[in-house]
Amino acid sequence: EEHIAIAIDGPAAAGKSTVAKIVAEKLNYIYVDTGAMYRALTLKALNDGVDPSDEAAVINLLLETNIELANDSTGQRVILDGKDVTEEIRYQPVSANVSYIAKLTAVRQEMLKRQRELAKDRGVVMDGRDIGTHVLPGAQVKIFLVASVDERAKRRHDENIAKGIPSDLDQLKAEIEKRDEIDTNRETAPLVKADDAVELDTTSLSIHEVVHSILQEVEKYK
Ligand code: C5P
Repeated sequence: EEHIAIAIDGPAAAGKSTVAKIVAEKLNYIYVDTGAMYRALTLKALNDGVDPSDEAAVINLLLETNIELANDSTGQRVILDGKDVTEEIRYQPVSANVSYIAKLTAVRQEMLKRQRELAKDRGVVMDGRDIGTHVLPGAQVKIFLVASVDERAKRRHDENIAKGIPSDLDQLKAEIEKRDEIDTNRETAPLVKADDAVELDTTSLSIHEVVHSILQEVEKYK
């Protein structure tokens, strides 16, 4: 059987992980949330007092860091050096610092290596910013999800509240805009739609509709 790779990219809080998880489940593929890897590294840097802009210090930290993504019935657990940090990596200090870590070239090179390893020889749905352009440029299906910043902030806010994560709508919106700006303007593997990606504006689409559109793209390769 052929192993299809599905790359789902787009700006912050566009609904990538929500639909990626469902698509992976329906196809019985593994789901890889690459943002969670950058977030886990950021959490460790903050905890260890490592300056997120110090490239040498951050890459050294990454090289001695184990990040595991465990798929289970609740979605994906993120294990940092043996400790479950699934919830902690969503907290505000991590969100506020992650894009500074993610713009470091050495960090991106190492993450790309690890992400390709995770995708090797299996059906995979991977979400992030540079999956279709750099990590899995040969992915059979590439999706670029967008939505208005107001809609994205509102969705993330509702999600936080539902999960019991502290949340402030205005602060969220500002943080999302800031992250998009840094992610879009960085030198290495910036946030950009791959030429061969299908763009979906999810502002007024339901989760079900987005999943359906992605599965239709997958059907073309089956
Ligand atoms: O997907 P999520 O919003 O959790 O990603 C957090 C941050 O990680 C992004 O804002 C971006 O800075 C970085 N990231 C990245 N490349 C990816 C995935 C995430 O630079 N493939």
